[in-house]
Amino acid sequence: MSSDWTRRTFLGAAGAAIPGAAARGRPRQDSSAGTSVKILGIACSPRRGKTTAAAVKLCLEAARQARPNVEVELIDLGGLKMNGDLAAGIPLEAGQQDDFPKIEQKMRDPAVAGIIIGTPVYFSNMSSLCKAFLDRWMVFRSNFALRSKVGGAIAVGAARNGGQELTLQAIHAAMLCQDMIVVSDGRPTARLGGILVTGGKEDISQDEAGLTTVKGLGARVAEVALMLRRGAV
Ligand SMILES: Cc1cc2nc3c(=O)[nH]c(=O)nc-3n(C[C@H](O)[C@H](O)[C@H](O)COP(=O)(O)O)c2cc1C
Repeated sequence: MSSDWTRRTFLGAAGAAIPGAAARGRPRQDSSAGTSVKILGIACSPRRGKTTAAAVKLCLEAARQARPNVEVELIDLGGLKMNGDLAAGIPLEAGQQDDFPKIEQKMRDPAVAGIIIGTPVYFSNMSSLCKAFLDRWMVFRSNFALRSKVGGAIAVGAARNGGQELTLQAIHAAMLCQDMIVVSDGRPTARLGGILVTGGKEDISQDEAGLTTVKGLGARVAEVALMLRRGAV
C-alpha cells in the first residue's frame, strides 16, 4: 500500500481507492449483493475529533469501500457523558448528565450488524470513557441484543508497545460478554485489530503499518457482517 494512497485517504480525496479489485475500478464480486448492513464506529476518546476519531473514521471508510451495500456512521463520544455507575444501579444525582440513551438508540437500529470501538490507550488500557460506555452495555445483555453483531477494536497510543494489544483484548472481552463475534484486521496481517502509534504527534498519518491494520479491520468487519446477515444468524 503506497503512502500516497494513505495520505489521500486522510485528506478525504474524492474517489480515494482501496487495495484490491475495487482499486482497479472493478466492483468487488460479492455473493451478498442485495444484502445491506450498517456499521457503527464509536470513538471513545474524551478529546473529540482527535487521533482516535480519525482512526475510527478511516476504518469506517475502508469498510464502506471494501463492500457494496455497507452504510457507516461515526459516533464520537468526545464531550459526551457516560455514567458508568448507572450500570450498577446507582441513580444519577441531580444535574448529572448522561448521554448513553442517545447512543443506545443508534445501537438498537436493526440495520446495525457491526460495531467498531476505538479508544486511546491510557496506561495500557482503554480510556475511562470507553470503559464506562462498555459497562453501560449491561442493558443489552438482558436479551443479548448485540448477539452475533460483528465487533472490532482500535487502540491508539503514543508509544509503540504502549499497551495497544492489551487494550484491544479488554475491548474484545467486553464484546464476547455480549456474545458478539470478534474479528481481527484480516489477512494478511490478521492481528488483534487496529493498532496505531502517534509518536506523541497527535497524528496517525505517518504510521503506515498501523493504518493498514485499521483499514484491514474495517474491511473484515464489513465482510463478516455481510456474511452473517446473508446467513441471518
Ligand atoms: C492518562 C493518559 C494515559 C496514557 N497512557 C498511555 C499508554 O499507556 N500508552 C501509550 O502508548 N499512550 C498513552 N497515552 C497517550 C494516548 O494514548 C495518545 O495520546 C492517544 O493518541 C490519545 O488519543 P486522542 O488523540 O484520540 O485523544 C496516554 C494519555 C493519557 C492522557
